[in-house]
Amino acid sequence: MNVLEQLKRLDEMPKRYKTMERSELEARARAVKERFGRRLFIPGHHYQKDEVIQFADATGDSLQLAQLAAKNSEAEYIVFCGVHFMAETADILTSDDQTVILPDLRAGCSMADMADIFQVERAWAALIERFGETIVPLVYVNSTAAIKAFVGRHGGATVTSSNAKKMMAWAFSRNERIFFLPDQHLGRNTAYALGIRLDEMAVWDPHEETLQGADDLDKVKVILWKGHCSVHENFTVRQIEHIRRMKPGIHVIVHPECSWEVVQQADYAGSTKYIIETIRNAPPGTQWAIGTEMNLVNRLKHEHPDKEIVSLNPYMCPCLTMNRIDLPHFVWALESLEQGAIVNRITVPKDIAAEAKEALDRMLSLV
Ligand code: 13P
Ligand code: SF4
Repeated sequence: MNVLEQLKRLDEMPKRYKTMERSELEARARAVKERFGRRLFIPGHHYQKDEVIQFADATGDSLQLAQLAAKNSEAEYIVFCGVHFMAETADILTSDDQTVILPDLRAGCSMADMADIFQVERAWAALIERFGETIVPLVYVNSTAAIKAFVGRHGGATVTSSNAKKMMAWAFSRNERIFFLPDQHLGRNTAYALGIRLDEMAVWDPHEETLQGADDLDKVKVILWKGHCSVHENFTVRQIEHIRRMKPGIHVIVHPECSWEVVQQADYAGSTKYIIETIRNAPPGTQWAIGTEMNLVNRLKHEHPDKEIVSLNPYMCPCLTMNRIDLPHFVWALESLEQGAIVNRITVPKDIAAEAKEALDRMLSLV
């Protein structure tokens, strides 16, 4: 079966939802929500489309959504408006009698797909052979549950873009080196902000199974996995230079999943939550170029008409996997639930969940 056929099979939504009017879908969503009341909880990531985010009980960045899942013991059903790794995290952090649903199973994350557990195990073996027992693994939440479990088993922790600095400082208090995966950019930007020089970082290429980019391996303090976000990697220094030429005085703010060069050129860099708060607190009349996902940039534009907000790259594509969660899939998941047919349930096997939870709990206890 080819990839297209596999993707098609992952989507079992009946055709009738695709042809329904938006107003009907919205009415149906509202009605199910009302009937379920607090038995149903809908978290929504900031990158989600407006058409679904309007139904979210809470919105947040990856850290906030993980914290909300850990706190919510009341809801029987959690219909997650986000991507697969976020729904897995919610399943790990909630009890066995709570059911987590992802409205479209094709809502994955290309960055999370850049590391699989077998590659990680091979990398770890090679790194331990080279550096001895001097390494703490840190994994960005944008990763599979199996990799989180690996990290939990080896004394490491998860991080999000909101707390990566704190978590790296924690890891350095425990050992000499950090193995950071799967986003090389968040890892590099965070380590650099902590005073680690670029020549003290090396990149592990999971395909070639080699360490790259460091002249003296003995000096290496941070080993970065060669992975990236295909949305944020599209922002460039040239775009920053262009927007500054076009609009002198504009402030540039980017997400730390952007490259080191872009983060160095930007005026501000931080997580989704940081970007939202910075724009909210900015004086009226100020100009902003934002380097993050389109849905969020468009929402901020709409919410702050008193500020001039543009995307750092007006031609960029939105995160295609985040956008898989649309109103038809959302309503289908809700209505199926009501009819007693749970679709797209996300269940992490118990043994993996227990070790992944260790990695998540280490993070949650520190932030
Ligand atoms: P945050 O929510 O941590 O800012 O991460 C952004 C992201 O790319 C989520 O997939
Ligand atoms: Fe993954 Fe990037 Fe999309 Fe976030 S924005 S879900 S990191 S591909």
